[in-house]
Amino acid sequence: METPATTRTVVDFSALSSDQRYFFLISAVVPRPIAWVSTRAADGSTNLAPFSFFQAIGSDPPVVMLSIATEKSDGTLKDTLVNIRGTGEFVINLVSEDLAETMVRTSAELPHGESEIAAFGLTPIPSASVAAPAIAEARVALECRLWHELPVGSAVAVFGEVLRAQVAEGLLDARGTIDPAALRPLGRLGGSLYLPFSEPRRIRR
Ligand SMILES: Cc1cc2nc3c(=O)[nH]c(=O)nc-3n(C[C@H](O)[C@H](O)[C@H](O)COP(=O)(O)O)c2cc1C
Repeated sequence: METPATTRTVVDFSALSSDQRYFFLISAVVPRPIAWVSTRAADGSTNLAPFSFFQAIGSDPPVVMLSIATEKSDGTLKDTLVNIRGTGEFVINLVSEDLAETMVRTSAELPHGESEIAAFGLTPIPSASVAAPAIAEARVALECRLWHELPVGSAVAVFGEVLRAQVAEGLLDARGTIDPAALRPLGRLGGSLYLPFSEPRRIRR
């Protein structure tokens, strides 16, 4: 390994605007997986939106976390947060690279009650353990029950316990893990950049 250069630019977060902090972080913490969250409102309508502040954070209990900025451009709460609070349930659909453009389109701010699932030609399918539908075009769906929520300034971290997963045929290997070459996950980089799937390297511990 080469000796690293020691000259560094120091970025002082206290001197940055909120936008600058956001653009720095989303281009530094990469690639991020994308939670494509489908929810059902208390009135029965459905909603779908992508969130890349997303990670699995524990397996006992199996908990995933996503962070939802509390305000839309018109100052109201995002439909995803309203629906998760209203029902305590949501489904995280995982995004494969072939779904990239459609996924981005579903980040449109449609009026509450108007479903991105129908608007963008996606197929809702019933979940086994929650009322929110899964998206048939996504190869893996995690059915979640709201476990906890934590305010983080202008956002809310939403923690979900995974109750069940729906996995498309051919993705689960004999050990019960997902074959990345079949899932072909999409990563999010900074701005509007995305990382298509590439050949993985095995590094043994
Ligand atoms: C790839 C991608 C990732 C996003 N990640 C987040 C995120 O982590 N948190 C967030 O609040 N909004 C995120 N957004 C924006 C939301 O998808 C957007 O605000 C959407 O309109 C929310 O929809 P809703 O009101 O139906 O919940 C992201 C958008 C895209 C395209």
